[in-house]
Amino acid sequence: MFYSDELIDEIRQRCNIVDLVSGYVSLKKRGSNYFGLCPFHNEKSGSFSVNERMQLFYCFGCGVKGNVYTFLMKYENYTFPEAVRFLAQRVGVALPQDADDPQAERRANYRKRLLEANKEAAKYFYYALRDPRGEIGMNYFKERGLTDETMHHFGLGYATKNSNEIVGYLKSKGFSDKEIWDAGLADHSEKYGLNGKFWNRVMFPIQDINHRVIAFGGRVMGDGKPKYLNSPETDVFNKSKNLYGLNWARTSRQDHFILCEGYMDVIAMHQAGFTQAVAALGTAFTDQQAMLIKRYVKQVIMTPDSDGPGIKAALRNIEILRNAGIAVKVMNLLPYKDPDEFIKGKGAEAFAERMKEAENGFFFEIRILEGQFDLADPDGKTAFYNAIAEHLCSFEDEMQRENYLTAIAEKYQIKADMLRDKVRSAAVRLENQDKRYKKEKNEEEEIAAGRPKPLPGRTKSEEYRLEKIRRSSCLVLSYLADEPGLYAKLKEDISPADFEASGLEPMAVMLFEELEAGKTIEPAAFVSRFADEEQQSLAAAIFQAKEEAMGLRYDESERQKDPAIEEKAFKEALLFVKNTVYEKISATAPLEQLRECKRKTEELKKRSFLV
Ligand code: GTP
Ligand code: MN
Repeated sequence: MFYSDELIDEIRQRCNIVDLVSGYVSLKKRGSNYFGLCPFHNEKSGSFSVNERMQLFYCFGCGVKGNVYTFLMKYENYTFPEAVRFLAQRVGVALPQDADDPQAERRANYRKRLLEANKEAAKYFYYALRDPRGEIGMNYFKERGLTDETMHHFGLGYATKNSNEIVGYLKSKGFSDKEIWDAGLADHSEKYGLNGKFWNRVMFPIQDINHRVIAFGGRVMGDGKPKYLNSPETDVFNKSKNLYGLNWARTSRQDHFILCEGYMDVIAMHQAGFTQAVAALGTAFTDQQAMLIKRYVKQVIMTPDSDGPGIKAALRNIEILRNAGIAVKVMNLLPYKDPDEFIKGKGAEAFAERMKEAENGFFFEIRILEGQFDLADPDGKTAFYNAIAEHLCSFEDEMQRENYLTAIAEKYQIKADMLRDKVRSAAVRLENQDKRYKKEKNEEEEIAAGRPKPLPGRTKSEEYRLEKIRRSSCLVLSYLADEPGLYAKLKEDISPADFEASGLEPMAVMLFEELEAGKTIEPAAFVSRFADEEQQSLAAAIFQAKEEAMGLRYDESERQKDPAIEEKAFKEALLFVKNTVYEKISATAPLEQLRECKRKTEELKKRSFLV
């Protein structure tokens, strides 16, 4: 869906960035900026700033920056159009999709209908549980220790024995056969026509993060098969992109989630006060679910079954979570099978105590690995150490890997130096195995992202130089953006191509276009001209450049302007940018062109720009 720049701006303008960010980060005013703990990196010092005047955020610690859209894209993992839609809804701006794209409108309306059907069904099940027909379900839940309040909180229900009832009810509410079928609430047979999918089961409504019912899980009360019946995937239900309990867990204000296996575990945990508990939805845990979790917390405590399949699943989940950048701990629930039983057996306090003893996910992996080797046999021992080394290679961060290496070496009494050597050779081995695959994958990704390939293995001084190019380019563009008349003075002497080395060329193109058209540059509006998160960040960097150059932490508007210093800073940056271009072409361009380039640079040196 394509939204116009005007609309994107209108939505953005109606939402003060301070209000938006305050919903996620606690902000305090210092100077004319707001500060808080950065939600995008781990810190204790409060380097995250929000500039109300420019409507931009910036972290002095990790360097993230952008406007309201960038913030939502980073924090909620939204795409740009998703961020636009989210804000539009929040500030009450109607989006044109409905009028412009009849097909999209129809689809959106149909999804609404399916949600309504699910909601009606949830109501129906809810009341059935609480009337005499539902007594059997009510007894079941009571026996499992759920309070009325908990049943209400989770909207639990009961599907009656007669599978036609729900269909008749939904029809009486105006839903068509197709809608009931598409909502996943009924099966169809030649003989009986449309039939309720769920009957004589206790019902668990599955909700999205906005508490809307999108599907159901239904459990038999006893030993029937299947134990759980879940709604099929529908236009409103994607199993691998939702988590049971997330609608409550996301507001639990904990720094971690507890990942359980089943619905009943989540409910028992919430009832015991652990509202940070979530579970996958009747299928294996997925990468998408890990990314979903990462929007809210950076740590997960797992509660796997201690039997074979439970451990196997746990190992898989640890890997998925680690790949998503989430720290993992593993709880030992023995002698109980799952959190539900543990809480029932020992209570909430004991659970909290056990939680403190949760084992680091990596140690858990190594401990399980250990069981596969015969350590009494020297060859078995060697194989075990090699396996540890290979495992250590999964940490990409060097410091983290080193920390784990020392910890594991100590735990298993291996010489750290020896293990380090093993890791090195394991890395080479794995890399050779992996190279072909990685190379292909990288290239695919680069092509998909439309990004140039990263330079292989940059040295520190190259990094530094690149950083300086970026800073200078930003500074030049920032003066062009807000010094009236500067563009007119300079436009014969610079071109967007001068900003290629810094990656700012697309921003320069856009900026020059707007300046050419005589527009005033508004920082936050300019940032949302770019749909890509990285590009938004680069665009925002332009408006941060002066503050960075002057070493200011608060707000640029407060600084005493000293024209001489400004002139000097601008000119230095400009000449550096020009010089970079010169160096780049010097190897290939004809001498004439080089001379011309040099001559122009010399000329620039003599001119003044800001006075
Ligand atoms: P209780 O036995 O009622 O305590 O439920 P539980 O959630 O502890 O069940 P269990 O540990 O056996 O299974 C964990 C999760 O796997 C369940 O919550 C379901 O999401 C899923 N699951 C279990 N059995 C089935 C099944 O027969 N079919 C499907 N589709 N999913 C199931
Ligand atoms: Mn259970």
